[in-house]
Formats: sequence, C-alpha cells, structure tokens
Amino acid sequence: MGAASNTVITTERLTRVFGGTTAVNDLSLTIEAGEVFGFLGHNGAGKTTTVRMLNGVIAPTAGAARVFGLNPATDGHRVRARTGVLTETPALDSRLTAFDTLRYFAEIYNVPKQVRKRRIDELLDFFALSNRADSKVGGFSKGMRQRLALARTLIHDPDIIFLDEPTSGLDPVAIRDVHQMIEHLSHRGRTVFLCTHNLAEAERLCDRIAVLAHGKLLAIGDIQLLGSHLNRSHTISVEVDVNDLPRALHLFAQTPPVARAEATTDRASARNGGVLITLHGVGRRDVPKVMEAAMHNGLNLYRIQPEEPSLEDVYFALQEL
Ligand SMILES: Nc1ncnc2c1ncn2[C@@H]1O[C@H](COP(=O)(O)OP(=O)(O)OP(=O)(O)O)[C@@H](O)[C@H]1O
Ligand SMILES: [Mg+2]
Repeated sequence: MGAASNTVITTERLTRVFGGTTAVNDLSLTIEAGEVFGFLGHNGAGKTTTVRMLNGVIAPTAGAARVFGLNPATDGHRVRARTGVLTETPALDSRLTAFDTLRYFAEIYNVPKQVRKRRIDELLDFFALSNRADSKVGGFSKGMRQRLALARTLIHDPDIIFLDEPTSGLDPVAIRDVHQMIEHLSHRGRTVFLCTHNLAEAERLCDRIAVLAHGKLLAIGDIQLLGSHLNRSHTISVEVDVNDLPRALHLFAQTPPVARAEATTDRASARNGGVLITLHGVGRRDVPKVMEAAMHNGLNLYRIQPEEPSLEDVYFALQEL
C-alpha cells in the first residue's frame, strides 16, 4: 500500500495556461503503480492537456510533473518509451495495412525483432482484426480504426497506458472488449490512466477517480467515497400501471425518504399501459422500502430501477460539500 517507491506519477501544482485560458490549474496528485485511475471531467475540463503534459508533448506553465521519477518536459523520450498513449483522435496512415501499421510502430518503439510478429499477431487477435490484418486502414470503419489505435498503443508493452476516451464512438461489443482489455492490463500490473466523461465506466473499472472541473481538481478518491457524497442526489425510476398513477404519486410522495415523486414521459412504458415515475432523494438502498410501500397498497408495479448518478450529479454533490 502506497509505498513511495511505487508511485509512478506525481504532479505538483501543475498548471497550463493557453492565452487567457487556464486549462489546468494547480493540479496535485499521485498515482501508484498498478492503479486504474479515472480522470473525469466535462468537455474542456483539462483532461487531455494533463495527459499531454505528463507525456512531455507540451510543457507546463507552472508547477511540475514526474513520471517514473523523470521530468516529462525535459526527458520526454525516456518517459514515452515506457508509456502508451491513445489520443482522442488517433492519426493512422490509411495507405498502410493493419499489420504494417503495427510493424511500423514496433520498429519505432524498438520492440525486439524476435517478439515483434508474435506481439502483433496477439494484438490483432485480441482486437478482432486478424482477418483484416492485410487490409488497408483507409477502408476501416471508425470502430476498427479505434481498435487498431488501441493495439498500436500497446505495441511496446508500456508500463503506463493513457487512454483518452477510449470507448467514444464504439459499439457495445467493442466497448465491452476495451473494458476487458483494461481489466487485463490491470491484472498484469500495468497502470491505466483513463480519461472519460462516463461515470458508469469509471465506476466499473477504476480503483480511484479524480474529478476535474475548469482545470481544477474537485475531488479525488475511491468511488465509494464519492458515492457517499452522492446518496442524496440519486433517483429511482418506478413503472406502475397507468390507472394507478394518481394513487402512486400520492403514496410515493409520502414514503420516506422520498423527497419528490413526479410522472415522467416514457414512450416505451406508455406503449405497454404503464407510466414511469421518478422518485427523487432516494438511491439503491431505498429500493426495498419503495417496493414494500407499493406491495402494501396493491399498486400494479411493473419495474423499479435505481438510476446511475451522472457526472452532473457528481459535480453538484461535490460543489455542495
Ligand atoms: N493548444 C491549445 N490552444 C489553446 N487552447 C487550448 C489548447 N489545448 C487546450 N486548450 C484549452 O484548454 C482547455 C482544456 O482543454 P482540454 O482539451 O484539456 O479539455 P478536455 O478535458 O480534454 O476536454 P474534452 O472532454 O472535450 O476532450 C479548453 O478550454 C481548451 O480550449
Ligand atoms: Mg480531451
């Protein structure tokens, strides 16, 4: 646990200003080897700017970063030899085949000759691209490009993998594969720095998360810690028979600790003779209470679902602290 020698990333008051915009503002954090670290924030929060500073692509305006004890601003090459970065919009050469793309990067990253072919084949296989190994990237779909870019990120078996919104634009099957890949990397002791907007994704994969807003760190900790701040902002969706609506609204509004009950437009429910009610101020732990109230009063209950808090809920809860 937390021995100083296991720290792979440290930032101290890291700051980057672009013209009049402070993209990253006084950011201090540490990340231990083997962590899956979630970096959450709205568009323009400063996530990508942080990743770029940690990899020596741009220099900080103030403050400092250390990656493997090295300063990325002056020792970028040595840092990048041990990091893999999936950028937001990976550039791929459309004239190369998938195999040649990976071979090219294997050469750049000095992957030993004797393991190159095996590593490439394994990655193509993992990302379900084996049957397209000899096709030109120009003919690839967006999801195929993203999977190839992920394979490229891993070609030199980096110790830290930075993934900048790796699942954006992917279909559900490809998203599941990326999540499995992150779990697999984590089991092998790699450190993963995951930028995402998606709280559910972070919740599922990350050991710790940091929430960034307008360049500033709002909170950092494990997901339970953040979750405890969130309890009051949760909602539960309940579907009852449309004929029970007035009674149900009245009943739920009187069921502690429900703060408010309101009918919600939901076409899927309406098509099936139901109506959706949103209960505010209650979370997963209150589901049994809500169910019991419904049963006791003979409501025709079709569905009950605690809703995942959104990133907005997190901001809201954190700002109220
Ligand atoms: N090269 C640049 N020149 C000028 N401004 C920049 C530059 N790069 C980033 N910024 C600004 O810095 C802020 C943070 O941008 P950044 O790309 O780090 O956000 P982000 O959290 O990655 O957002 P997104 O979720 O949209 O990818 C934004 O206001 C952005 O306009
Ligand atoms: Mg970004």
